[in-house]
Amino acid sequence: MSAVSALISHSAIVHLHNLLADDMQRVNQATLGHAQSKVGLVEKVAQHLLCSGGKRLRPLLTIACSHLFRDQPGYAVQLAAAVELIHSATLLHDDVIDESDLRRGQATANRLWGNVPSILVGDFLFSKAFQLMVEAENQKVLEVLSKASTRIAEGEVLQLELLGDLNLSLENYLEIVGAKTASLFAAACQVGGMIVDMPVWLEDDLYQFGYNLGIAFQITDDILDYGPGGEKLGKSVGNDFFEGKVTLPVLLMCQNPDFFPVWESWFDQPSRNEDDFKAAQNLLQGQNMLETCYEYTKPFTEKALHHLSKMPAGVMRDALNALISWI
Ligand code: IPE
Ligand code: IPE
Ligand code: MG
Ligand code: MG
Repeated sequence: MSAVSALISHSAIVHLHNLLADDMQRVNQATLGHAQSKVGLVEKVAQHLLCSGGKRLRPLLTIACSHLFRDQPGYAVQLAAAVELIHSATLLHDDVIDESDLRRGQATANRLWGNVPSILVGDFLFSKAFQLMVEAENQKVLEVLSKASTRIAEGEVLQLELLGDLNLSLENYLEIVGAKTASLFAAACQVGGMIVDMPVWLEDDLYQFGYNLGIAFQITDDILDYGPGGEKLGKSVGNDFFEGKVTLPVLLMCQNPDFFPVWESWFDQPSRNEDDFKAAQNLLQGQNMLETCYEYTKPFTEKALHHLSKMPAGVMRDALNALISWI
């Protein structure tokens, strides 16, 4: 069992994957099918990422949200594949930006083939996703997913613009997280319902469910980057620290004037070493900071629960409820 599957075993996400196994198999086929190319390197890079696992959380949300309203997901299968292709494209780009060398327990594409192929194949996957979205012939769906793609790019650039700023406000942090991560969660959920003609008056609730879930998810990812346990995600821990990325644990520590100069002494350097990271981890632990950060996820998971409660009751809503707790 891989590290990633060990982490997610016996959890709400597995329950959802089991419930939706047939649909998800079709989603996987569609995703892999659209990563084919007659250009060898395109296919190698795309397959490397797509076949290396991943939780398939966003397409799972698309399919689950379609099932809140209909037994048959219809074109939600193709849209779910488009969502996973968008996610994959952002991961290829993100690993270049973050200079990451480990993803899903394997060497990243940028490490194996370099930055240029990663960026170009990311663009290829984005384009493929749009091809699938256009085929849905649904203007509203196209609008929602293209808006999310724009927001992801804006989020990554805003993060870059504010890199290393220890005075980052909570508002700006949430703006980054909302754009780079939550916008795709939100769109993934909303289009799942839209494509099966959900009641129009519930569309915003479904969007808000996904958005708040996405924020809680990224805060959790940011906490896990300071471990312990983060390595179970198949990524290296400490990436955010080494990059000088100000995430929630750092932002909150730096609100305390006693700790601000300590972080400043690290983040003012062009690079940080393993000893610095251990010291940072100890400081966070000493202040119970990671637990405090988990508390910050609660208003978002509560909002996600609230918006989900407006959806039709049933097995699928219960499974999504459980997923919120898992996050
Ligand atoms: C990684 O997302 C990027 C973040 C928003 C933290 P996932 O944790 O869903 O990545 P995979 O697809 O399961 O590898
Ligand atoms: C992920 O941001 C957001 C996107 C991929 C757009 P991170 O940089 O925090 O995610 P990981 O930790 O690399 O998965
Ligand atoms: Mg990253
Ligand atoms: Mg991260």
